Amino acid sequence: MSAFVSFEEVSKVYRMGEITIRAVDNVSFSIEKGEFAVIVGPSGAGKTTVLNMLGGMDGCSGGTIRVDGSLISGMTPRQLTAYRRHDIGFVFQFYNLVQNLTALENVELASQICRQPLDAATVLQEVGLGERMNNFPAQLSGGEQQRVAIARALAKNPKLLLCDEPTGALDYQTGKSILKLLQDTCRQKGVTVVVITHNSALTPMADRVIRIKNGTVADMRCCSHPTPVEQIEW
Ligand SMILES: Nc1ncnc2c1ncn2[C@@H]1O[C@H](COP(=O)(O)OP(=O)(O)OP(=O)(O)O)[C@@H](O)[C@H]1O
Ligand SMILES: [Mg+2]
Repeated sequence: MSAFVSFEEVSKVYRMGEITIRAVDNVSFSIEKGEFAVIVGPSGAGKTTVLNMLGGMDGCSGGTIRVDGSLISGMTPRQLTAYRRHDIGFVFQFYNLVQNLTALENVELASQICRQPLDAATVLQEVGLGERMNNFPAQLSGGEQQRVAIARALAKNPKLLLCDEPTGALDYQTGKSILKLLQDTCRQKGVTVVVITHNSALTPMADRVIRIKNGTVADMRCCSHPTPVEQIEW
């Protein structure tokens, strides 16, 4: 049986005039359903490129990408739109909330476009924002805004929750509480979570660590007893 997520010899080449950039070069890895996976590596290593191909935001130049039995790398643009809409939840470094909608409306907006959304208010309660649902993003702290963004992604009831440097704009304690929320969500809801970070200190919290260097996988390892993030210091 094949893995829930699999990359097989995936490459991504960007052409800019005379110059070609091999952002991702023959990358292979797999992730099992329900795992908390961390993709780690230095700036420019190709982490975001990998995540964008996995989430159907960018096509690959070669190789095969499979998610839950579907061949993502063979999809038409229309199929990719449906895949992003129904199967993927994204969380970005800078939240990307709609400023003139409340927290609740931001979550409802996302749940309106997918097939089996969860109740927006319930999900906001689960991320700890039950009391702040009617606030606008500008009335919330960075950590609270990131919780709204996580609720927005989770309300879609996605197969995969993809997070690109989700704590990059947050202070130490707030970043830790966001990572705890992601780890708890993975454990309690069984959703497969992929987190990108440049911070190697976070790797003990993962079931699986994929280390990316110069566009290639330098190392992939699994951990049967990951550390709760609140016990990690960095
Ligand atoms: N749209 C693009 N056009 C051209 N080159 C790109 C494009 N996107 C990424 N690259 C290049 O591909 C390489 C990998 O970039 P990527 O953004 O995936 O790195 P990263 O590991 O996410 O880095 P960071 O930690 O700084 O976010 C870099 O050399 C980058 O300049
Ligand atoms: Mg990046």
